[in-house]
Amino acid sequence: MSTVGYEVDGEVAVLAVDYPPVNALSAAVRTGLGEALERARSDSAVRAVVILGAGKTFIAGADITEFGTEKSQVKPSLQDIQGELEGFPKLTVAAIHGTALGGGLELALTCHARVAVPTAKVGLPEVNLGLLPGAGGTQRLPRLTGVEVGIDLITSGKHIAAQQALALGVIDAIVDDLRSGAVAFAREALADGRGFVPVIERDDKVTDIDAAVFATARKKVGAKARGKIAPMTIIDCIEAACTRSAAEGLAYEKERFQELFASDQRAALMHYFFAERQARKIPGIPADVKPRSIQSCAIIGAGTMGGGIAMTFANAGIPVTLLDLDQAALDRGLDVVRKNYGISVSRGSISQERMDRALALITPTLAYDDLAPCDIVIEAALERMDVKKEIFSRLDGLMKPGAVLASNTSYLSIDEIASATSRPGDVVGCHFFSPANVMKLLENVRSATTSDETIITVMEMGKVIGKVPVLARNADGFIGNRMLQYYTGEAEFLLEQGATPEQIDRVATRFGMAMGPMSMRDMAGMDMAVVSRKGRAASIPAGERVSPIVERLVEAGRYGQKTAKGFYRYEGREKFSDPEAIAIIESVSKEFGITRREFTDDEVEARLFAPLVNEGAKEIEDGTAIRASDIDVAWVNGYGFPVHRGGPMFWGEQYGLDRIYQMALEAAERNGPRWAPGKLLERLAREGKGWNAA
Ligand code: 3HC
Repeated sequence: MSTVGYEVDGEVAVLAVDYPPVNALSAAVRTGLGEALERARSDSAVRAVVILGAGKTFIAGADITEFGTEKSQVKPSLQDIQGELEGFPKLTVAAIHGTALGGGLELALTCHARVAVPTAKVGLPEVNLGLLPGAGGTQRLPRLTGVEVGIDLITSGKHIAAQQALALGVIDAIVDDLRSGAVAFAREALADGRGFVPVIERDDKVTDIDAAVFATARKKVGAKARGKIAPMTIIDCIEAACTRSAAEGLAYEKERFQELFASDQRAALMHYFFAERQARKIPGIPADVKPRSIQSCAIIGAGTMGGGIAMTFANAGIPVTLLDLDQAALDRGLDVVRKNYGISVSRGSISQERMDRALALITPTLAYDDLAPCDIVIEAALERMDVKKEIFSRLDGLMKPGAVLASNTSYLSIDEIASATSRPGDVVGCHFFSPANVMKLLENVRSATTSDETIITVMEMGKVIGKVPVLARNADGFIGNRMLQYYTGEAEFLLEQGATPEQIDRVATRFGMAMGPMSMRDMAGMDMAVVSRKGRAASIPAGERVSPIVERLVEAGRYGQKTAKGFYRYEGREKFSDPEAIAIIESVSKEFGITRREFTDDEVEARLFAPLVNEGAKEIEDGTAIRASDIDVAWVNGYGFPVHRGGPMFWGEQYGLDRIYQMALEAAERNGPRWAPGKLLERLAREGKGWNAA
């Protein structure tokens, strides 16, 4: 059966691309389109062609599962089809619903006209895959939108709604019904004798553009790119659209596309794309297990975390009942929520109306009974087991049957929390990251008794509330925090051995981390770190070294940003290197007889990230994480790990698991047996294999 349906409606041929799930431009679809266009060309009754998508969407782009395979070389190429469409002797109309993305939108841009239903979205998201739109997107889109908007859309990869696409000239009309609306549009255009100039020939918006536009864009986009190469390459291509002929611009774009295609960043970002989707798939859960419906949410604790979680649900249109123990705490929490929304409104990222709608969905309460009818309750109270157990035992007697009972704990045992209830199957961890309304990661944690239905429910819920869910098994610190201690721990050992806070932070941000580990500590507050380290001291076995630098800084009143001094000295938001902090670090080196030396940046980089890979491997080994790529998803979305590095496990595999193994042996020698490599890493290093052999 063809992947492209062909039906004639009067004088209009309707070509329906039918290739689930997202009608990607696979070899089969390109072949189907080529044949259908040939048929329409030779059908004398046909005067116009409408191209639409069957199912839930228009074409979501090139088929990325075929990238680099023989299928991607099958003719006709996307560019062949675009050439055919652009010069087609009959009117061609793209009719868009769902999303027209990447190659899908690029194909539509070679039709004579584009219409969309009101709910449709369009975009060129190739940048998220480390690519640029390689089928003329950088040359055609700015010809419709103008250069500045074009740069913004293509370097961000954002999807825009039909109404905005209409205002920007990307589409020509909005239709209520996809098929009949598009056919009517084609008929009217034929009746009017309306002519459409091919987009590639419309030069007015790309002529005489001041070079300063590109200089400004490079500065702005470069500051956000954190080492990504695709956004800057996109600007080069858009500049070429303004300075070269159409044919030269298209050739230049093709050349730069191939350059990006061959890059490590493209490989990492594509790995990440599939990793995020894979993370939602939980092996061993039968297909007939369905998620429970989450239409309402209760949250216990109106602190920073509870408030952020409340905003997340309200933003997704889910009513929230927010409980705290006293009115003052509740008022304080709601004030913070209001203030956060207010900031978003003043920045223009949400409308006043949207803020009012979200706030109206949050109902504060002091009464536990008000939580009873909710579909899920998320406890975000004090991080103490006795407090959690008391709350869960109370919820057990209160919540309706089938409600999910979730804890936002960041390291306490979900098994133990579940034991306080008579329904441990309904108990699960839902670990949000601060600020919860911003950070994408939702680390769901199953205990030994969490039911399949509960697991599927919180994984599905994560997607609905706009988070990226990853499933962990109960373990101290779960997936992310368990690894974090090795990253920050090694950073402190590096300080003892001679690296400076500046060097470590510079190397981390050069690598692409949102923030270096020393600045992160200063921001979070060193006193907090000391409290949490004291709490966890019992779990650190004898013979393990933990650097006392943080404790010494706190003793000297250096709590971090809040006291204007920590690893650095602060004047407002500006930070400066501080000899006093360095002297404290040097005194620790001296106390432990550690000879200080210089480190190269590459050495620091490897030392910082290798321990993450080693601990991640142990998580796969003991089942804390289902797969290496889940760890990558957690670190990208919860810890600011650069997505264009693919995540720590992907990075580790590129760096060489044998080298990571060697470094773990050395770390164990220096720091203690906890740093030693596990059996899995040892085997993979020995066999020269990657995580897919785990
Ligand atoms: N090619 C192949 N498979 C794709 C695909 C694509 N372009 N886009 C999505 N899929 C697959 C996913 O891998 C997933 O498969 P799975 O069920 O086996 O895991 C399935 O389609 C459904 O995807 P989602 O789970 O993401 O479904 P959503 O409904 O949440 O989102 C979407 C749909 C908005 C289309 C989202 O999948 C998306 O953003 N896709 C990527 C679009 C993209 O990047 N297009 C550009 C491709 S590169 C290109 O076009 C190059 C050109 O310039 C030459």
